[in-house]
Amino acid sequence: MLLKIVGTATCFLVSVFIIRKYREYTWGKCKSKRSVKNKTVIITGANSGIGKATALELAKRGARVILACRDHEKGQKALIDIRSKSRNGVLKVMELDLASFESIKKFSNEFLRSEERLDVLINNAGIFQCPYMTTEEGYEMQFGVNHLGHFLLTKLLLEKLKQSAPSRIVTVSSSLYSKGVLNFDTLNSKEHYEKGMAYKNSKLANVLFCRELSKRLEGTGVTVYSVCPGMVLTNLGRHVSIKWWKLIAVAPIAWLFIRTPYQGAQTVLHCAISEEVESESGLCYKNCKKTGFAKVAEDETVAKKLWEVSEKLCAKAEKSE
Ligand SMILES: NC(=O)c1ccc[n+]([C@@H]2O[C@H](COP(=O)([O-])OP(=O)(O)OC[C@H]3O[C@@H](n4cnc5c(N)ncnc54)[C@H](OP(=O)(O)O)[C@@H]3O)[C@@H](O)[C@H]2O)c1
Repeated sequence: MLLKIVGTATCFLVSVFIIRKYREYTWGKCKSKRSVKNKTVIITGANSGIGKATALELAKRGARVILACRDHEKGQKALIDIRSKSRNGVLKVMELDLASFESIKKFSNEFLRSEERLDVLINNAGIFQCPYMTTEEGYEMQFGVNHLGHFLLTKLLLEKLKQSAPSRIVTVSSSLYSKGVLNFDTLNSKEHYEKGMAYKNSKLANVLFCRELSKRLEGTGVTVYSVCPGMVLTNLGRHVSIKWWKLIAVAPIAWLFIRTPYQGAQTVLHCAISEEVESESGLCYKNCKKTGFAKVAEDETVAKKLWEVSEKLCAKAEKSE
């Protein structure tokens, strides 16, 4: 009897292990060996998770990496860790709070004053399923940080990207974007707020933003990519509490799906440096491959409307420049 139990348990564990290894293979890996020496890269939210793992990989390849973090101390801690692991690259922490237009403007001005070029902008920072909160300007936090903050940041850095062309803009979205719905009348409404939907909507905004941006950048040498990194074990779930017994119950299955930050960073890296994608722009990537658009992101008129609405919402900041 005991032998039977041990045999069954061993079979189960070996099967799970094999499935995991197969899944890891399908997740893909950035194969580019391209050196990024003398290239300057900004990564928002680089002190943690996917952003930090991307920063480490780019530092190993010799890039000048600007860690754009809202908490200077956390950024500095990440910098020390990345420096000790990469033994390469030039790293710098700059303060950036995407929930504040003032902070975004300050960051951009400082960057434009102090840096000669910008080869890759990685819009990675994100907030997930927080209770209803607003940015400094009063916009709903998930829309405000995940989309609007990056929208303004990208616009303020666009001239530098053009001057440094060929250059790239990579925005980290999520596969959940396919479940998003953009209702322009309730974007910032507390009454209609549902935290799960607000995240999906903000990630849909990321994909639509990239589509419209790529059209506006045609012929400039600046290319645009949106990335679905997969499910990654990071600090993103800080606003979500799951009972410990539920966590234990789902752990073996979750282990089949959850990527490490290094694995989650691979498609971001692929879009940031790979030769394979240099002639593409405005598309969506997952597992280091192009993916088609979900139905919700197919309508180019919605992408255009989002651009116009975002411009209006950001006008406050740009006017006060
Ligand atoms: N993890 C996943 O399974 C998953 C799946 C799909 C997509 N994504 C996307 O991947 C991106 C990176 O997330 P992650 O999983 O690596 O999570 P993470 O470890 O929580 O990293 C998020 C980063 O964003 C920063 N951030 C949050 N609010 C900010 C603000 N107002 N201003 C500036 N920075 C801010 C955080 O800074 P603090 O540390 O100071 O809070 C942190 O550095 C996000 O866009 C997320 O939506 C993640």
